[in-house]
Amino acid sequence: MNVSNESYADLQSRCRSLIDTEAEPVSSVANIIAEVHHTMKFLWTGIYLTRRNDMYLSVFQGPVACTRIPFGKGVCGTAWQMDRAIYVEDVETFPGHIRCSSMAVSEIVVPLHRNGMVVGVLDVDSAIKGQLSESDLDGLTRIAEIIESLV
Ligand code: SME
Repeated sequence: MNVSNESYADLQSRCRSLIDTEAEPVSSVANIIAEVHHTMKFLWTGIYLTRRNDMYLSVFQGPVACTRIPFGKGVCGTAWQMDRAIYVEDVETFPGHIRCSSMAVSEIVVPLHRNGMVVGVLDVDSAIKGQLSESDLDGLTRIAEIIESLV
């Protein structure tokens, strides 16, 4: 499934409308992750947050996942180290990919920033070959911008 920019624009505005300024920020993040996950039908959608030299598992939807990812390890730790979004078409080809689910085929990781520092990542996994492409990087980066205002 290739999702058009228009669909991402709709998703973005629904995510924005899920921000409840009266609640704890994590509550809004939880709803945004659920919205993205179920709209896009990803295998896994969630965030990892940095703490010292590791990232730890935070809000997510999907199968249980690894709880801790060191700086520079896996796709998530590499996105943190390089401070850039990473698209992996075939996770088998990414050196050091950390496999949390046997069903994962492709992955996109986008860093989350606060005051110019990486404070976490948005990570999505797909179980469907061809579901994710370079074109999803832009849409997911805009979703990450909404989330980073809350973490
Ligand atoms: N595949 C990730 C680990 C996190 S899970 O996909 C949820 C990685 O290589 O960093």
